[in-house]
Amino acid sequence: MVRHLLNLKEIKPEELKDIIGKAFEIKKNPGKYSETLSGRTLVMYFEKTSTRTRLSFETGMTKLGGHGVFLDKRTTQVGISDLKDEIRAIERYADVIMARVMKHSTLVEMAENVNVPVINGCCEKYHPVQGIGDAMTMIENGGDIKGKNVVWLGIGNNVSNSLINVCTKMGAKITRCIPEKHPISVDEELENKAKETGLYEETKDISCIKNADFVHTDTWVDMELINDPKFQKERERRLKVFMPYQLNKKILDKYGCKGKIMHCMPCHVGYEITRDAIDHPNSIIFDQAENRMWSQMALMLFLLGKM
Ligand code: CP
Repeated sequence: MVRHLLNLKEIKPEELKDIIGKAFEIKKNPGKYSETLSGRTLVMYFEKTSTRTRLSFETGMTKLGGHGVFLDKRTTQVGISDLKDEIRAIERYADVIMARVMKHSTLVEMAENVNVPVINGCCEKYHPVQGIGDAMTMIENGGDIKGKNVVWLGIGNNVSNSLINVCTKMGAKITRCIPEKHPISVDEELENKAKETGLYEETKDISCIKNADFVHTDTWVDMELINDPKFQKERERRLKVFMPYQLNKKILDKYGCKGKIMHCMPCHVGYEITRDAIDHPNSIIFDQAENRMWSQMALMLFLLGKM
């Protein structure tokens, strides 16, 4: 049966550990894997902009001996035809498909209509490949994350949902310090299950960063809304609500936080994060960006039965 990665609910904790273990192995010895996916093609389909997701998948596929093809909605026929038909045609050229879409239901429809793995490259609810890369980066910068304190600062969103999944599956405690959640990202089932593990909490009290081993943040406004004139009023409102949750050196010093600083990027300097936090000695933001590539290489091997 074909395995997809639409969100991290589907992945067992042992599988997650195996994927991350393989990612470290590939990072240490990439030459050993340089022909593992020789002749294979990854088709990448984007409905939204990207720097890291496109680059990490495309270069990752190159390093595995395969080839990545970039498609977007604007320059293909996907937007003017039935998705069901377009994806069945795309499948004829692809060994694996990665898609960044506006709605999770698009990924579900894709997966239902093809017999090759479909990977979620970020939707409104989840960013599972970011979650796997983040777990790798936390392990790389602190060893086993079991028992570690992870704090998510800012807005409850798609990236934080996937971080909840990886942390609770790997035994880390995760606290989302959030005044609000982005309404379209809310997944109550995920939150309730996470709470049952005893490893997930929500708070509005920023002093929780005091004992954090890792502090993550992300944009307060999703990428597709940043320049949308219809969203400007809401954007202004959010800036006021979220500014007290900005990740900056002053707040880290105030609470004596020694945790590593993480951001999935792109960073919006002066909004959710400041320059002094990005360039802080505890920042591991660029390792985080790099590890997207190694961890996604391992993920593709896993989904293609090549681990
Ligand atoms: N973190 C992340 O997904 O980056 P991009 O939006 O640049 O792909």
